[in-house]
Amino acid sequence: MEKTLVLIKPDAFSKHYSGDIIKRYEQEGLRIVAMKLLQMDERLASIHYAEHIGRPYYGDLTGFMTSGPIIAMVLEGENAIKKVRALNGKTNPAEAEEGTIRKQFATASNRNAVHASDSPESAQREIHIFFNETEIYDGEYKIPD
Ligand code: PPS
Repeated sequence: MEKTLVLIKPDAFSKHYSGDIIKRYEQEGLRIVAMKLLQMDERLASIHYAEHIGRPYYGDLTGFMTSGPIIAMVLEGENAIKKVRALNGKTNPAEAEEGTIRKQFATASNRNAVHASDSPESAQREIHIFFNETEIYDGEYKIPD
């Protein structure tokens, strides 16, 4: 089982797409093991997007990501990292395949509805930016009687 970090970005959140996006992940068998609503500040954005500091789009990216509420969640499942990236689709929604979340809900490379970790190393790093161990569900997923 693998875990990955997903962010529902301010564009999708403000347009009330969060429920539809979460449903897409759940329908693919991914399980929510942590979730919170928050607004990023500059410091948090600079930690999360550390590898992008200095890139020409960095100011736009962090300005956008701090502009309103987001939902952060940890999803768990087999091959969760690749599975979620495939479900999200390409960074630029114009290039995203039909059926992907970005094709349906994103409008541009810099307003693209969702973020997801791109490797086991980044998943491990990113999950712990947003959640501590006690906030991540580690029990069984049982259907109550
Ligand atoms: S990815 O998914 O990491 O391979 O995407 P990448 O193309 O490397 O882009 C990294 C993140 O930067 C965002 N981005 C931009 N923001 C603002 N303006 C421009 N021009 C721009 N181009 C890319 C892109 O949405 C990625 O954000 P995350 O949150 O990682 O998906």
